[in-house]
Amino acid sequence: MRKGIWQEFDGYQDIAEEIKVSRKLGGTASAAVIAAEEYIRQLHPERLELYVSDIIEETPSTKTLRLVSKDNYLPPFLAGQYIALFLEIGGIRTSRPYSISSQPNQVGYYDITIRRVENGLVSNYLLDEVKRGDALISSGPAGNFYFNPLIHKKTTVCIAGGSGITPFMSMIRQIVECGLDRTVYLFYGSKTADDTIFGDEITRLAERFENIHYIPVIEEPAEEYDGACGFITRQVLREVLENIEDKSFFICGPQGLYDFCLPQVQDLGVPRRKIKQEMYGAPPNIQEYPGWPADIHPEDAFSVSVRNGKPIKARAGETLLSALEKNEIRLPSLCRSGECSMCRVKILSGKVYQPAGVPVRKSDRQFGYVHSCMAFPISDLEVLI
Ligand SMILES: Cc1cc2nc3c(=O)[nH]c(=O)nc-3n(C[C@H](O)[C@H](O)[C@H](O)COP(=O)(O)OP(=O)(O)OC[C@H]3O[C@@H](n4cnc5c(N)ncnc54)[C@H](O)[C@@H]3O)c2cc1C
Ligand code: FES
Repeated sequence: MRKGIWQEFDGYQDIAEEIKVSRKLGGTASAAVIAAEEYIRQLHPERLELYVSDIIEETPSTKTLRLVSKDNYLPPFLAGQYIALFLEIGGIRTSRPYSISSQPNQVGYYDITIRRVENGLVSNYLLDEVKRGDALISSGPAGNFYFNPLIHKKTTVCIAGGSGITPFMSMIRQIVECGLDRTVYLFYGSKTADDTIFGDEITRLAERFENIHYIPVIEEPAEEYDGACGFITRQVLREVLENIEDKSFFICGPQGLYDFCLPQVQDLGVPRRKIKQEMYGAPPNIQEYPGWPADIHPEDAFSVSVRNGKPIKARAGETLLSALEKNEIRLPSLCRSGECSMCRVKILSGKVYQPAGVPVRKSDRQFGYVHSCMAFPISDLEVLI
């Protein structure tokens, strides 16, 4: 019989021999496959055991938690990615994603920088309860909000609001520390000048490095403030950017910032495909979104049945994922912003509201699956997990 061309490859005999032995022993993979799987597990671990090595006060409402690994190994990440923390608070098991604000070239720790959200379950816990030395469990680094040299232009326009500065801080720190040939224009919207996170550090870097441009935009400025005021409008962008052709645009922050800034950037003539966005979770005032049923109030409660269990009550203004978690019904979750698909459930009967722009696969839509982190009950529901 003629030899197949692959049989000429280096190492073919060894691999064939290994497969033969592993089949004889009932195994399904060669040592090389097992080694590759181990390598992948190291790069993309499902869970990390972390310790809080330091806590840094950034503003009156924001702290950075410096996290080190229990086994001295932290998987690499790309500037812009997040880790999800898995926590149990007051009997509720939940998770929240936080972008890594430290730079990827610094491998000893991950910094996450948390801003207080009024009545927020996890942000208040992390800011008030967590101490140096505490253990935390997280996912490995995840997310698609990062600079990709194959797709993105060398000049990046970053538009941040509130805690949405964190992925850009990681990018900027990496650019200056590694001397990367990239230019950044950072537009950062804050309510007051005191609210800006990392403001002093970015100002210093912008003074020192000519490829870093910093434009803080203050909504309620003090009298003596002479920078850009109000919101990040197309005029504010146009005044600074000479053209848009050679630039990629990134937007990060609460959904309100994204809803406001996306049309401003598009009005400059930037195609949607050149704008990358990361929303920091579900919108707080969902009833203000287009298509929300006028006769439903966010406090209206609906019954949700899962499997054969006792039906639970879920508020219209709260995501299905949060309502399930509060009733001890656990789902996998990671991004909590409709991106990763981990929390998908099938709606067997009833209706949910999903804000526009949540990327649900066509087949999922066809078969009634939704991302529960971005789905709001607007009738009684029967759900398959
Ligand atoms: C990919 C990703 C990365 C993130 N990175 C960061 C980060 O680096 N730093 C950081 O501080 N946060 C970050 N967040 C937000 C974070 O995950 C939590 O949503 C936030 O800490 C609030 O959680 P909570 O449990 O305190 O509030 P919840 O108990 O979940 O919410 C309480 C109420 O506040 C509203 N709400 C929730 N989040 C916000 C918000 N951000 N602004 C205004 N209202 C809100 C809710 O709609 C609800 O009404 C990120 C979110 C995503 C999706
Ligand atoms: S947790 Fe990622 S889509 Fe819901």
